[in-house]
This record gives sequence, structure tokens and C-alpha cells, in this order.
Amino acid sequence: MSSVHWREAWKYGERAFRYCQLDVGHALGALRYAAGALGWSVALIEDVDSAELATMMGIDRSGDFSGNEDADLLIEIETAPGSTPPAARRPPVARHGNESRWAGQANLLDPHPFYRWPVIEQVSRATQGRGTGLPSEIQIHPPRHPTDQGRAADIILGRRSAQRFDGRHLMGADSFYRMLDGLLNRPNAPWDVWRFAPRVHPILFVHRVEGLDPGVYALPRHAAAADALRAQMRGDFEWQSPDNAPAHLPFYRLLCTDCRVIAQTMNCHQAIAGDSCFALSMLSEFEPVVSANPWRYRQLHWEAGLIGHALYLEAEAQGLRGTGIGCYFDDALHEVLGLTTTRFQSLYHFTIGRPLIDDRISTWPAYPDRQVAPPGESWP
Ligand SMILES: Cc1cc2nc3c(=O)[nH]c(=O)nc-3n(C[C@H](O)[C@H](O)[C@H](O)COP(=O)(O)O)c2cc1C
Repeated sequence: MSSVHWREAWKYGERAFRYCQLDVGHALGALRYAAGALGWSVALIEDVDSAELATMMGIDRSGDFSGNEDADLLIEIETAPGSTPPAARRPPVARHGNESRWAGQANLLDPHPFYRWPVIEQVSRATQGRGTGLPSEIQIHPPRHPTDQGRAADIILGRRSAQRFDGRHLMGADSFYRMLDGLLNRPNAPWDVWRFAPRVHPILFVHRVEGLDPGVYALPRHAAAADALRAQMRGDFEWQSPDNAPAHLPFYRLLCTDCRVIAQTMNCHQAIAGDSCFALSMLSEFEPVVSANPWRYRQLHWEAGLIGHALYLEAEAQGLRGTGIGCYFDDALHEVLGLTTTRFQSLYHFTIGRPLIDDRISTWPAYPDRQVAPPGESWP
């Protein structure tokens, strides 16, 4: 996977680098779910650094590329899982040196860009590199049993972002907890591709969920993170497990309060954060992780994007809908939580509820030639 930052920057400016990295996480999730539906496997090839990856992809050819494309991630997809010998797990370029011949020039997307965002280039350079070994301790939860809530293809192809929510809908407790359960590290899609300790921990702003007081909640995705978050956040937070929470879920109530206005405000005043059933912030372990290896700045965003993708599909599976939120005020969030250091940093937000469909917008299947129209319907 590679990113062309300009494709986000023309619209989002400096935020483009982060959005591209979040999109890498979403794309990784999409690949993992789709591969799973076909009986294929997906694995990350971790021991390749950014420069080597750019060479493999041919995007380091400065004459043919204007330097706008960034190598992100190498993924192995096996159509017969387990059949590839370890020695063959690298593309030929990496194994035999650069014998490939490249052809073609990347087109110049915008020869006269109206704005330039030099920080994108800077952060891209500063975060080149690779992972350094796997963390030793990963708490893995037991596999989750499938439910018969729908065909994977229907859920995947039906996924869209909600644009507005029904501000009165009360979400069932079972749906809510199943969604959170889908964010735990376990040998199921999409988490079986993520062989790293979880670093990103949702802080939830619950508005309307059956059996839960409206308020602020936390889902630290590993035990040590719960202690660290507790030490860093406001001293008057409760840290109590709600009565109806499944015992295995590390889910804590921090504060009972109506947080609809605050959620909307801190998400760039977007109504989707206050009208939903709940919104969340993905608080990441940050400063120590990124200082030790700046490349992890990318990797943390991939993890957040992966969480976002799991949430999109979990919401669809429950007959609800989600929207990723990249526009938010991180300082305001940190202040609400009492965070005064950069030990934790919010990287991505999300919101889920019952969508209101805008009838003025027509939706056609993305790939009509590859899908069969339902009985009685025809597509143009
Ligand atoms: C990283 C990311 C950030 C996003 N930020 C916002 C946002 O702040 N507000 C919003 O309304 N939608 C946001 N979205 C939703 C996108 O607008 C939406 O995914 C895109 O228009 C494609 O539509 P689809 O998700 O229905 O396929 C975001 C999506 C992603 C992946």
C-alpha cells in the first residue's frame, strides 16, 4: 500500500498525512475481511523498511515520480493459506535485488497547486523506517463465535458513512457490547493481522444505549493501559464496570453526564457526534512509543483506522451505521479528560447510531457488473 498525499491535501490540508495513514488502516481491514470471505489469509510483512518498500514498488524512481507517493505497508495475501514457504514470503525485488524493469511516469496531479503543505513532506520523512521486533506480551482474547446476522458480502457492500442520525434512537445493550467486543485483540478478522500489542484505546461518549447512564466510558484494550490511563486522567473519574457489562470486557464508566453537546463541540461542531447513540475518541499511547521509533506514528494511525473499519462493519451488522471523524479538537478532548501530557494522544474519532437516509441521494451498487441485482430490481 502506498499513499498519494495530495489526493487528501487538496481538501484537508495538513491533516492529509494523518488521513492517509488512517485510510491505510481502513484498507488493511477491508482487505482482511474480504480475504476472509474468500477463504484467503492476510499477513503483514513487518521487516521491510520504507525505503526498501519504495524500491519494491518502483515509486522511488525520482525521474518518473514527482516524489509524491509514499510507501506504507507490505501485505501478503495467500489464496491457499499456509502454502507459502517462509523464504518465498518476500517479493522478487527484495530477494534477488532490483532486476525488475519499470516503465511509465506518474502523472503530475496538480502542476500548480494553490496551497503547499510542507509539513506533510516533513512528517513523511520523519516517520520513514520500520517496526523493530514484536512486543513480547500480547493479551489475546478467545476467538469469537459468528452470529447469523447477515452475509459478509451484504454487510461489506452495504457499508456507507452515516450523514445524519436519528437523535432519539436507543441502541440495544447487546448490540453495543458486541461492537465493543469486536475491538478486542483475538484470532478473528481483522485482529489476526495485527500482531502488535494494542496501543489505541477508545474513550466513549455514550448518549443513548439501553441500560447505560449517559456519560464518558473507557475501553482500555490491555490491562497496563487501564492503569496508565487512570494515572493520567482526571482523579475524580469513577473507573467502575457497569452492571450489565460482560465480565470479560475491560469497560469502565468514568463519569455520568449528558455529553451530547460536548461531543458535538469537540468534533468540530459536527451534529453526527451528538445525535448518534455514542461517539468515541481513539486515545493512543503516544509520546514514549513515537519517541522510541518515529515510524510508529504511522503504525498507530493504521491501528486506529483498523478499529474504525471494524466499527463500520460491526455497526452495519447490527442494522446501525457509523461515520469516521477525522475533524476534531484534540486539545479540547484532552482537557475534558484531564490529560496534561502527550503520553496519550487522540488519533481518530468515530460515531455510531441509527442513520437517517437522505432521500435526495441515490445509491447505486459500486460494482454492478460484478453483482447480481436482487429479484425484482434492475440496475442501469
Ligand atoms: C479517516 C476518515 C475521516 C473522516 N472524517 C469525517 C468527518 O470528520 N466528518 C464526516 O462527516 N465524515 C468523515 N468521514 C467519512 C467520509 O466522508 C466518508 O467515508 C467518505 O465520504 C466516503 O463515503 P462512505 O464511507 O459512505 O463510503 C471520514 C472518513 C475517514 C475514513
